[in-house]
Amino acid sequence: MDDHIRFENGVLLLLDQRKLPLIEESFVCRTVQEVIFALQTMVVRGAPAIGVCAAYGCCLALEEAQRAGANWMFELESLLDLLAQARPTAVNLTWAVQTMRAKGAGVTEPDKLATLWLDQAQAMHQNDIAMNKIMGRLGSELLQDGDTVMTHCNAGALATAGYGTALGVIRGAVDMGKNISVIANETRPFLQGARLTAYELQQDGIAVTVACDNACALLMQRGMVDKVVVGADRIVANGDVANKIGTSGVAILAKHYGIPFYVAAPSSTFDLTIGHGSLIPIEERTPLEVTHVGATQITPLDVPVFNFAFDVTDHALIDALITERGVLYPPYSHSIAEMIGQEL
Ligand code: MRU
Repeated sequence: MDDHIRFENGVLLLLDQRKLPLIEESFVCRTVQEVIFALQTMVVRGAPAIGVCAAYGCCLALEEAQRAGANWMFELESLLDLLAQARPTAVNLTWAVQTMRAKGAGVTEPDKLATLWLDQAQAMHQNDIAMNKIMGRLGSELLQDGDTVMTHCNAGALATAGYGTALGVIRGAVDMGKNISVIANETRPFLQGARLTAYELQQDGIAVTVACDNACALLMQRGMVDKVVVGADRIVANGDVANKIGTSGVAILAKHYGIPFYVAAPSSTFDLTIGHGSLIPIEERTPLEVTHVGATQITPLDVPVFNFAFDVTDHALIDALITERGVLYPPYSHSIAEMIGQEL
């Protein structure tokens, strides 16, 4: 699956992930505001996919800014600022906008910038798939024939430009001929595991079973989980990892039961400006995601809820970080600086 993000004739077409797996429908973005809406409402989600869409969003922003006439550069800067702030936790969003800005630095002709940016966005799109395939190959060495792998949220093709990070590692092992089955944690409240991970693995013919998030301890206790592989929204200098809410609990349980816990993410997900996970901004989303299932309210009226979208997994709980530049092992402050640091 690598056609869920398409940029055709100046329009961004996204497979609408809010409606999967029941309805496969495209959401069309013609303006940067529509891209921001798509990111915020999770038409498209997953850190690397957010980055690629933001790069195309810059192209749409340029198109729009030109309507401001002589002030187009000023208008463009404010549109890019808005785009970069659409969601706070996945660092791939600001990384993508910064990369586009750097590519266009000093270019003062809009037509020239448009060509440059479209080429850059397309390169980022294709690179993401290529990096995931490399990660898949490297990470597949950590999985054994016959393993049952637990994953949390959706770090698959849908969360990236294609192939996936955590699911890329699983796909890599399957491509090598290993028999792998997957437990997809359902991932309340947006149900990325139940809806999206199950959907894409089923399409690929990879055995997948959905489990309630709160079944994790029981499944591990019964020896039904051999490895855990998850993705990441931001990895900081000491190796702490922000990922979908619930990931940290899975990692704590994995440590308790002696199950290896791996994180797969490209270098664009590393943020070495932050030294410790406690400093990562954690998105809080609308209470409606928790109070309602579809259109039906399931909590009593006026009872407040927490809806933190991410948590931070302590680096001490992580057995390896799988990146396109290699598999990193503790001590992470050293291995990250060595393999990722110099080029970021
Ligand atoms: O809120 P989401 O769905 O954007 O959160 C996504 C996750 O937490 C993924 O696990 C993470 O981005 C890794 S995606 C390759």
